[in-house]
Amino acid sequence: MTIQDVDEDELRARFDATIENHDRVEARDWMPQGYRATLVRQIAQHAHSEIIGMQPEGNWLTRAPSLRRKAILLAKVQDEAGHGLYLYSACETLGVTRDELTARLLAGAQKYSSIFNYPTLTYADVGAIGWLVDGAAICNQVPLCRTSYGPYGRAMIRICKEESFHQRQGYELLAAMMRGTDEQRAMVQESVDRFWWPALMMFGPPDDDSPNTAQSMAWGIKRHTNDELRQRMVDMTVPQAEALGVTLPDPELRWNEERGSYDFGSPDWDEFWAVLKGDGPCNAQRLAHRRRAWEDGAWVREAAMAFAAAQSEEAQYEEAW
Ligand code: 3HC
Repeated sequence: MTIQDVDEDELRARFDATIENHDRVEARDWMPQGYRATLVRQIAQHAHSEIIGMQPEGNWLTRAPSLRRKAILLAKVQDEAGHGLYLYSACETLGVTRDELTARLLAGAQKYSSIFNYPTLTYADVGAIGWLVDGAAICNQVPLCRTSYGPYGRAMIRICKEESFHQRQGYELLAAMMRGTDEQRAMVQESVDRFWWPALMMFGPPDDDSPNTAQSMAWGIKRHTNDELRQRMVDMTVPQAEALGVTLPDPELRWNEERGSYDFGSPDWDEFWAVLKGDGPCNAQRLAHRRRAWEDGAWVREAAMAFAAAQSEEAQYEEAW
């Protein structure tokens, strides 16, 4: 029996049962159009974030203070490229090509994470990004290993392992600077002051202003709301900040005995929406760089396609004989 022989109600019932049982939906399975479109939107945005996210740290590759730091940073930036590729591949299983996704990004029809529209002004930013940005990524992405769409969840397992290394290298870098001179400690604090609030914005708008969360949770694409994950990030990070000896720039931050969690202030949501609209400090620069890299790489894509076509022709010729 093929999928065409089963009527749509039956297919929908099977899909609903898969979601209800917390099983995986696979690429070959029937799925509602909205589910497919939501996945393409989220996975593509995630993939674009990994690729654009190479830029702020790539900025420090030629200026890393030692060979060891350079090797670590190089490995991390390369990992992000790999994450982008796993995610584009996961997205392609939904019937859209990587070229189409890149075209949508460059046309401004798809987003990438707000965080990568902030500049990396000092070397401490490499540590702050590892600690806070990759820390936020881990909080957000570990639950995505259990997302309902199989290819996305499986890609996330490997990505999360690598993100843990990224978070640790950032923390270790900052810890080394905190053991250094007063100037280095001040540099770390200044960087944490700039990155704290944008890192909390990575989790998306407050639940009341998040149009997609309810449906994405019902479909098992998201496992927690934006605010739940933001709270998890704050609870995880405060003890680490204390161990590092830095102050998080939030006067409202305090332990709430009753809730067993930290209370904290509200990010500047006007700033968040402005960054999403393209008005962040580096939006134009990030997209221009991505566009240039895509255009400069056209010959590589063409050569790879020509090589693949020649290989396949050769294989057909050999088979014929
Ligand atoms: N940056 C940019 N856009 C954001 C955003 C952010 N931080 N947070 C939310 N948005 C957008 C949404 O995409 C949505 O826009 P759209 O409907 O036009 O696509 C709108 O704001 C409303 O937000 P919702 O909360 O309704 O959207 P979602 O339900 O999709 O939740 C999300 C947003 C939590 C980011 C979710 O999409 C998600 O978990 N995505 C997967 C993780 C991801 O993409 N992370 C990006 C960072 S990657 C990274 O950190 C790399 C690492 O190496 C550091």
